[in-house]
Amino acid sequence: MCGIIGYIGARPAGALLFKGLKRLEYRGYDSAGVATLDGGKLEIRKDAGKISELDEKLHFESMAGSMGIAHTRWATHGGVTRENAHPHADCSGAIAIVHNGIIENFQELKAELAAKGHSFKSETDSEVIAHLIEDNYKGDLEKAAFEAAKRLRGSFAVLAVSAKEPGKIVCFKRESPLLVGLGNGEMFAASDATPIVEYTRRVVFLEDGEAAALTKDSAKFYSLDDWKPLEKKASTVEWSAEDAGKNGYSHFMLKEIFEQPQALKAVIAQDEKNLAAFAEELKKAKRVIAVACGTARHSAVIGKHMLDRVAGKDIEVLIASEFEYFADRVEPGTIVLAVSQSGETADVLDGLRRSKAKGARIMSIVNVKGSSIDRLSERSLYLNCGPEIAVASTKAFMAQCAVFYLLAHAMAGKLEKAEGDLRLLSGLVQQELDAANGKMKEIGEELAKKQNAYYLGRGVNYAIALEGALKLKEISYVHAEGMPAGELKHGTLALIEKGTPVFLLNPEDYTYYESLSNGIETRARGAKLFGLSNKENKAYDEWIRLPETIDALLYPFLSIVPLQLIAYYAAVARGNDPDKPRNLAKSVTVK
Ligand code: G6P
Repeated sequence: MCGIIGYIGARPAGALLFKGLKRLEYRGYDSAGVATLDGGKLEIRKDAGKISELDEKLHFESMAGSMGIAHTRWATHGGVTRENAHPHADCSGAIAIVHNGIIENFQELKAELAAKGHSFKSETDSEVIAHLIEDNYKGDLEKAAFEAAKRLRGSFAVLAVSAKEPGKIVCFKRESPLLVGLGNGEMFAASDATPIVEYTRRVVFLEDGEAAALTKDSAKFYSLDDWKPLEKKASTVEWSAEDAGKNGYSHFMLKEIFEQPQALKAVIAQDEKNLAAFAEELKKAKRVIAVACGTARHSAVIGKHMLDRVAGKDIEVLIASEFEYFADRVEPGTIVLAVSQSGETADVLDGLRRSKAKGARIMSIVNVKGSSIDRLSERSLYLNCGPEIAVASTKAFMAQCAVFYLLAHAMAGKLEKAEGDLRLLSGLVQQELDAANGKMKEIGEELAKKQNAYYLGRGVNYAIALEGALKLKEISYVHAEGMPAGELKHGTLALIEKGTPVFLLNPEDYTYYESLSNGIETRARGAKLFGLSNKENKAYDEWIRLPETIDALLYPFLSIVPLQLIAYYAAVARGNDPDKPRNLAKSVTVK
């Protein structure tokens, strides 16, 4: 995963890159480092640890120079150590690189370079890039980077600098994301726009197999195949630096939970023609396979129920990393529908590329416009919910479900009803946030003391059971399992003992009575039963009240909100940082 940023201009680079790393920290946060160039002198400061702690020790802002590159790491190859942190340098200490991705053939390259006398300091796959560039360096960094890139297999977004050519940053990429930010007398390169929007909103997305050479006054683009110049068009980032800040909330996650009423309204602002065409294509498709990971997949499960119930369209939902075993056999007439907040998830991208090669049509529901998935898609719908920074997804989930709600109704010719419903829903979610926050804090603190929790639901509510459990486990580290309530008797019931928390997704809809019976079965075995419902029932030990709504398919939106808050407060009570759960990253750009 990892985040990278480069800068060349007139500002002090150390301070700017440190700030950029903090913005990118959600992409990885086990180690970080900065390299700056001042005239012909290259300086690297790096170590394992969180960025702010590292800065207290390494004082990035005191680094000399007005150009440099920086990296925040989520370890793949090699442990979390200073040596494995980026930037990595060549033997001479003149060339430095940062890399996001995985070099699949690094072992053979490393053996080859070691045989030529190169000495390696880290266990990473990335360090070979610095040595490969050194090996090919004959006074021209661009040429050396081009030759080096030819030898790399796997995924990479790389920034390279050389003390012998101060005043230039060379960038190249395949699969991992990279964009160039165009300023006045300054240029940027970064994994995404979050660290650069406060300086410029004009960006150029690099495609696979493309490269760029940046000086403070110019950005030139090349094809990585032959280093021939490319004409590239700039796009404008539509959100601002304030959107990427915490706005007074203690964590991004809490801010994003509270942004959900707004997110619901923003989803309605779809390009109507595009939505209608999207809906029409889905309706006509012989086969539709939705592929996604994590929270995005849970929204796709909800989407499956919505499309089925509202539009009578049956779609399949597959976990992206499992789809890869089928992707090569899809047939023309199939739509592969990617659902992704970041638009960069490697497993999703892999399946899309492979099924596209077999003639599938690629469509997507994404948040980040211009992301790799968006660019690979023939048609996209956007979440419009602004940047989501906390690793655990909340407002993007809400927005994904809302897009599916619109889509299902558009397919059934009832778009206006859906738009009205979502406006109403926005108000109901706001009411919930105002009323429930305190109680959810208490429940969260109670859960923080537990080892396990179970989440049960049927039909469309099953997806909320999955999502509620994922929220709790990923940030509080309390083991949690979400499951179809009907499956309980086939194993999990054996784990219920006195005081085990069970969350029952039990709105008064088509699943109500059967789910209620399953909840009662757990209570009979000693479970503490939390009932999420619009209707009180004495079977619940605790009633988590959901507002009444006009369409049963809106309950999933209302039941996820208390579960997000409970997970958040459980994490805080355990002393965890909910924005940066251990071992996880926001954007999973490696397979
Ligand atoms: C990671 C994130 C999740 C996210 C998943 C899929 O696991 O922590 O929040 O749901 O990736 O990411 P995507 O960007 O494709 O939605």
